[in-house]
Amino acid sequence: CADWSTLMLQIFISLMLDDAGVETAEEATEPSEPDVNELCKDMFTKMAVYLQGELTATCEDYKLLENMNKLTSLKYLEMKDIAVNISRNLKDLNHEYASLQPYLDQINQIEERVAALEQAAYRLDAYSKRLEAKFKKLEKR
Ligand SMILES: *[C@@H]1O[C@H](CO)[C@@H](O)[C@H](O)[C@H]1NC(C)=O
Repeated sequence: CADWSTLMLQIFISLMLDDAGVETAEEATEPSEPDVNELCKDMFTKMAVYLQGELTATCEDYKLLENMNKLTSLKYLEMKDIAVNISRNLKDLNHEYASLQPYLDQINQIEERVAALEQAAYRLDAYSKRLEAKFKKLEKR
């Protein structure tokens, strides 16, 4: 980019200076001509400096934009990586949960059996208390 703008500028300056030179050769006889020529050269030189600055600024803008684009695309790649990782982790988690399912089912069954056993124990307790009461009643006779 910088090389291109410098080249354009050199072509521009040489074209301008050539034109000025031709004028000098054609009208060298007039005394006031060198002054105009000098003024022209000066003007073109200043213009060239100004244009060089403009082109360099534009160049920098493009470089900045390019760098920002690169950074943004890097960020997107990183985010894509994270998304892929999250998706993989979720899949793993689902797998693990699925492999745990039989054990969870067994735990549920055991819980149900323990509850049933508890109910049976309560009934047995109540029954034994009634039996005891009956026994005491028989003893008193
Ligand atoms: C994604 O996971 C891989 C392997 O587990 C790890 O090396 C990498 O650093 C992770 N990437 C991000 C962005 O977390």
